[in-house]
Amino acid sequence: MKVDYRAELVITLWLIFPAYVANALPVIFGGGKPLDFNRKFLDGKPLLGKGKTIRGAIAGILGGWITAFVQNRVSLQLGLEFYSTTEGMILTCLAIVGDLIGSFIKRRLNLRQGAPFPILDQLDFIIPFILVGEYLGFISLTRALIALLLTPPIHLFMNIIAYLLKLKSNPW
Ligand code: CTP
Ligand code: MG
Repeated sequence: MKVDYRAELVITLWLIFPAYVANALPVIFGGGKPLDFNRKFLDGKPLLGKGKTIRGAIAGILGGWITAFVQNRVSLQLGLEFYSTTEGMILTCLAIVGDLIGSFIKRRLNLRQGAPFPILDQLDFIIPFILVGEYLGFISLTRALIALLLTPPIHLFMNIIAYLLKLKSNPW
């Protein structure tokens, strides 16, 4: 079977877009009380660190939900492939949870908040999204590879812009 890679690339970006929104909004709207309430883990290090805030998580989840909802409606109109609004809500939460798992791992490895961890920083939010997308049937192996290859450069590019706009204190 011949795969139209260009079409797969476009539809993959369309399908994972709510995760990008969920990952980007905390940078703009985050701040305030940390999600871990400054608690330490068993190793005496911060559970998640001050970079993961309640406001950021809520902004990411709500923004992701709205994005998935709008894309769901547009897809219905245009006859494009997309998941249900409920699935979109779950997937958006997974993007946020993936980012939290990334920070949890970084703290266990003794990396302070904001320290770079190449590849993990760029992919943590998308990995659970891809895995559940595969389970739900809309992410094939080709699409998973496209998402894993394209996300790091897109993520880095967006973060450099956020850094230049002084929304972030580092460009990764
Ligand atoms: N942010 C937030 N709440 C979240 C996620 C992110 O408020 N749930 C905000 C924080 O201001 C954070 C910024 O977005 O500093 C960038 O997020 P990210 O790069 O994921 O966090 P880091 O600060 O780099 O922390 P970590 O080392 O844990 O990745
Ligand atoms: Mg970071």
